[in-house]
Amino acid sequence: MADNGPILVTGAAGQLGAVGRTVCGLLLDRGLPVRAMVRREDDRAAALRAVGAEVVVGDLLEPADVYRVVSGCRRVYFGMSVSAGYLEATVTMAVVAREVGVDAVVNMSQMTVSQMSIQNTTSSGQQRQHWLSEQALAWSGLPVVTIRPTMFLESFSPLAAPTVRNQGRIVVPFGRGKTSPVAAADVARVVAAVLADPGPHLGRIYELTGPRSQDMHGVAREFSDALNREVTYSDIPAEDWERELKKLGLPEHLTRHLVTMGELHRAGRYDRLADGVERVTGRPAISAREFVSLHADEFGGRRS
Ligand SMILES: NC(=O)c1ccc[n+]([C@@H]2O[C@H](COP(=O)([O-])OP(=O)(O)OC[C@H]3O[C@@H](n4cnc5c(N)ncnc54)[C@H](OP(=O)(O)O)[C@@H]3O)[C@@H](O)[C@H]2O)c1
Repeated sequence: MADNGPILVTGAAGQLGAVGRTVCGLLLDRGLPVRAMVRREDDRAAALRAVGAEVVVGDLLEPADVYRVVSGCRRVYFGMSVSAGYLEATVTMAVVAREVGVDAVVNMSQMTVSQMSIQNTTSSGQQRQHWLSEQALAWSGLPVVTIRPTMFLESFSPLAAPTVRNQGRIVVPFGRGKTSPVAAADVARVVAAVLADPGPHLGRIYELTGPRSQDMHGVAREFSDALNREVTYSDIPAEDWERELKKLGLPEHLTRHLVTMGELHRAGRYDRLADGVERVTGRPAISAREFVSLHADEFGGRRS
């Protein structure tokens, strides 16, 4: 292991939660060396280089690429897009991290794993793969820290921004289920704090939620407050949502995951509160209202 080697951040060019990209910035702000792994050379790679990261290109499903990017690193943040090869990528990373020797692997997972067991999994391949990935990392004997966030507030950007902009409505099949979405920026603050000083966190599992668990009418009220105009919640049948998602041409793995997320919301399984953000970073997680205020333009702007 390279004691003074850089910290590897995978999925560093991400644009959805963009946890990897935010983690790179936070670590660089702390003066720590960062190796940012991207899938291809593009503007996003150039932007990472411009802020001081060492950028490496590779595929997390290619063992030789993973060995090349991990070699020389002392710590790893492992996260990638919701995708069918997630378990394979995790196990590949585990094999390589054992071979190279690292002092911490911070693994992105999901809070739904907290409720899973052999007898009780879900119909989302992504959630099952996170559950299996956590098992495999535990068997690996690696020094692992597990991050289990609930739904990201950033997910409302693709899922709700068009209807909030055009109709003043959030349209999702969550019924009266409560939810406590967390900002991916807060998740990134947790990951960066752990990577900067992993010792006290090794072996721990951090569940991360926002500060409030409420139904979607409550979330819509936070949107209204942030945008200074009425935003309401419309519940729709799960089948209608699935049909709309299919029209978007998303990969089947992602569509199935989103449909399951809707079903679990409806069943009250996202009604959770956890204080991981504040415990690790010393600052509470931001609310839906604060998030929407920060991203008001995406949701059609705040009425003056
Ligand atoms: N969204 C939520 O509500 C939520 C909630 C809890 C947990 N999570 C977990 O968060 C993770 C996603 O994090 P995020 O939203 O920060 O990610 P993100 O913004 O979607 O970024 C993921 C990055 O992974 C890269 N990637 C995908 N496949 C790759 C491969 N084979 N090799 C190398 N790089 C690859 C993508 O590259 P390209 O940009 O080139 O495609 C992308 O830049 C998932 O594990 C998900 O389960 C998400």
